[in-house]
Amino acid sequence: MRTIDWVPGAGGGHIRLVDQTVLPAELVELDIHRPDQLVDAIRRLAVRGAPALGVAGALGVALAVQDLPAERARAAAAELRAARPTAVNLALGVDTALAAFDSGGAPAALEAALAVRDEDIAASKAMASRGADLLTQLLPDRPRLTVMTLCNTGALAAVEHGTALGVVERLHLDGRLERALVCETRPLLQGARLTAWELARMGARYDVIVDSAAATTLAGGAVDAVLVGADRIAANGDTANKIGTFSLALAARHAYVPFLVVAPETTVDADTPHGDAIEIEDRGSDEVCSFRGVRTTPEGATALNPAFDVTPAELITAIVTDQRVIANSGDHSTEQEKR
Ligand code: MRU
Repeated sequence: MRTIDWVPGAGGGHIRLVDQTVLPAELVELDIHRPDQLVDAIRRLAVRGAPALGVAGALGVALAVQDLPAERARAAAAELRAARPTAVNLALGVDTALAAFDSGGAPAALEAALAVRDEDIAASKAMASRGADLLTQLLPDRPRLTVMTLCNTGALAAVEHGTALGVVERLHLDGRLERALVCETRPLLQGARLTAWELARMGARYDVIVDSAAATTLAGGAVDAVLVGADRIAANGDTANKIGTFSLALAARHAYVPFLVVAPETTVDADTPHGDAIEIEDRGSDEVCSFRGVRTTPEGATALNPAFDVTPAELITAIVTDQRVIANSGDHSTEQEKR
């Protein structure tokens, strides 16, 4: 099963995606027939994760130009593009399909969108093997690895396999995964709900930890590497990812544990010079003050809810993409003897 895909039909087709708001209790697919339904699904995080958002953006344009007059389709595409600001893949997916529409009409937009989908699948496979190989190089004396991860960067964040969790899946399939430690990822629990669900389906050994247990777990020496994804990588290597990533990187540096960012080339944004220029989505108070409709804070309480943070390039041991490894030459977090 793919997280998001195009379902061909009589009038052209529609989008089908896994509804990530109800996992792990239920595995339900949503059929999306209109761009506004897709915008709603993106805002509610029914579909989420940078690579999946890129595919959603491209397929959403294909859907819009199939059914709407050109000007209304362009307005729908603009709304889609703005549905979430931090992951560059969403804007890139929309722009790619719109450019194809401009040159070849609706059939070209669909062809381009399907190519975005197929390239994402290929990129996931390339990242998985490149990331696993890099871990062998960084940790040659560790045949089996305990890795820590945050948020969900698996198949649910892409079309298939994913980014950082795709590397973890590769380690598991190769018999090299001792255990995955999954940060629960407050406030929406993408780690506890989605990553744990994926690891269970793989048959991999894992434990969920509360986010605030990550630093002490790293300092205790139980973790060989931290693997995370990215929503946008600036030209200087600063990386935006789920809130809490920066804290993990600081703790990993303190513990001399390698900290790897795994993301497709499409997440590298040459137009954003550094992390300060990345727009961070603010998701408002409700997600923090309540949980699944139950208020957990006093009436009237307000909260800060940045959905992402920026990890400075200097804290990242290496960025692994589908095409290359960008190593941080000034980083010494592989000095295991210091642990
Ligand atoms: O708010 P989300 O769930 O869309 O955040 C997702 C992340 O931060 C992921 O780590 C990132 O998109 C990379 S996914 C391969």
